[in-house]
Amino acid sequence: MEKHILRLKVNGDEYEVYIHPKTLLAEVIRDHLGLTGTKRGCDTVSCGACTVNVEGKSVKSCSVLAIQCEGLEVTTVEGLEVNGKLSQIQRAFLDNGSYQCGFCTPGMLMSSTAFLSELEGKKPSEEEIRESIEGNVCRCTGYNSIVRAIDAVAQGKYKEE
Ligand code: FES
Ligand code: FES
Repeated sequence: MEKHILRLKVNGDEYEVYIHPKTLLAEVIRDHLGLTGTKRGCDTVSCGACTVNVEGKSVKSCSVLAIQCEGLEVTTVEGLEVNGKLSQIQRAFLDNGSYQCGFCTPGMLMSSTAFLSELEGKKPSEEEIRESIEGNVCRCTGYNSIVRAIDAVAQGKYKEE
């Protein structure tokens, strides 16, 4: 199969990669760009560990071809920290102990970042918060500490630094 030159914008940086058209976005992010914060768990769209944001919407990067993202803004967990400052949801995860082994954490952070940005100041219910991460599996925390962290940010307890 012929290879394709893909131009991709990830975390604000422009990349050019030479790939087969059927290469998954998850594969490009980890294997070509070396952004290994994004995890691959199931590769069957079930666990959410590979979640990244494309144009601000959370997307399971094992479920899309990289060429589908040509010209779009992709954000990975590495892109949440800006100028050495953690994002609000990253700080809330730290403060609430919202991780144990950490394998699900990048995906959880990306899903909750997309969810929080769509709220536009609206305060979500606990049910809405739980729904926002229902595509992300965590085998360690029992989810409550993750829900607390998302709620703390939604309630305005964190400011941009
Ligand atoms: S690796 Fe993509 S959903 Fe599990
Ligand atoms: S912290 Fe281990 S899977 Fe979520």
